[in-house]
Amino acid sequence: MDGSFYRLDSKYHGGKLMRGIIFDLDGVIISTDKLHYKAWKKIADKLNIAFDETINNRLRGVSRMDSLEIILEGYQGPALSKMEKEKLADEKNTFYVELLGTLHPNQMDPQVPDTLQYLRKKGLKLAIGSSSKNTKYILHQLEIENLFDAVSDGTNISKSKPDPEVFIKAATFLNLPPEECIVVEDAVAGLAALKALKVIFLKFLKKTGSFVTLGTGKYCEIYFS
Ligand code: BG6
Ligand code: MG
Repeated sequence: MDGSFYRLDSKYHGGKLMRGIIFDLDGVIISTDKLHYKAWKKIADKLNIAFDETINNRLRGVSRMDSLEIILEGYQGPALSKMEKEKLADEKNTFYVELLGTLHPNQMDPQVPDTLQYLRKKGLKLAIGSSSKNTKYILHQLEIENLFDAVSDGTNISKSKPDPEVFIKAATFLNLPPEECIVVEDAVAGLAALKALKVIFLKFLKKTGSFVTLGTGKYCEIYFS
């Protein structure tokens, strides 16, 4: 595919002008799946819990503590206290942050910064809407923090996806109503949040480098020619 030319097909949905785009981070801007997997695997092995890529896929978009609960479904040892669980989650995060230290802009699909720049030139406001508390560090490592007008992440929400709070906050930070925002999301939990919010959502298809609407039946595409 020739990645040099991008086309925003329409900024209108149902006659309404879309003014903002909210991007999920993990799985949309950068694939951190393998790093999450490596870090959780360490914890799972320690507790003798079977953990594989299928279980890891269920953790997409889900908060750190909720992810731990999913992993603990396979735990057969003595009951764990809240403090012990928090310690396990901290341990996972320490290792995960260490792995994030190896992140480099060249690990990101070059179409991502190009697209962000293109959309900004088109006058759209851009935000991040991610459950991750490591969002700002990841954006810093990828050197793309300046491409976003706002960041809504795990540090400013009380309910994680599938609750729509993170997206509502992102729209608020952009000074836009959520109905004037498009969301790009890859996880089931995130899509459930969007359903609740009744906004249009897009999925970033890595293979073709296209942004395509899903499920709305409305005409709305941002795609690479
Ligand atoms: C989401 C990831 O973006 O962030 C989840 O898809 C992860 O897998 C969640 O559990 C929380 O991340 P963090 O960095 O706060 O542990
Ligand atoms: Mg994601």
